[in-house]
Amino acid sequence: MRHFLFVLTVSIIWFSLTRPLSGLPTGSAHSPLITDRSKHLVIASGICPQPRNTKQAPSKYKQKINPLRATTQNIEKGKLLYQVEAKPTACKMCHGIRGNGNGLLARGLEPAPRNFTCKETMEAISEGQLFWIIKKGSKGTAMPSHKFTLSDRDIWQIIYYLKSFYL
Ligand code: HEC
Repeated sequence: MRHFLFVLTVSIIWFSLTRPLSGLPTGSAHSPLITDRSKHLVIASGICPQPRNTKQAPSKYKQKINPLRATTQNIEKGKLLYQVEAKPTACKMCHGIRGNGNGLLARGLEPAPRNFTCKETMEAISEGQLFWIIKKGSKGTAMPSHKFTLSDRDIWQIIYYLKSFYL
């Protein structure tokens, strides 16, 4: 009986100590989290022109132009890679389903993923530069390399699809 009472007392104390903690997410303490989140989302997107300190591609890359034709097939393949198939992570996870830089993984990234809907920023970037960054990644940022996972053809198809966000 004494043992039972001891266990009961310990459980009551334990319950009352842990209860307020587990209740946190529904209480007012939750609002700073929401504010914090939206602050990062604002940083990640919506800013146009977008600050950009990305390294410049070597000139042999920068001058490259898309060797493919802008056929529906190429654009649709680019879309499939961007939205679903690209490895290690589909582009939409950072750059957003709508290309605005607001993907699920974009929160808190510094620098933020490129906002492809920002015509002003995007038009100033050559196709060769886009190609180089997609292939090699942007060192020191979250932008990964795709040299082992996407063929050159895949990358050029994606570049046609990216244009649909800002042209
Ligand atoms: C894990 C997050 C992440 C994923 C996944 C990702 N990116 Fe990025 N991307 C970034 C970030 C962050 C930047 C900004 C890099 C910088 O400022 O240098 C960026 C920049 C870029 C740029 C801008 C290059 C420039 O010169 O301004 C292009 C183009 C791009 N990404 C294309 C893609 C494509 C295509 C994919 C999918 C195949 C992809 N990204 C996947 C995070 C990501």
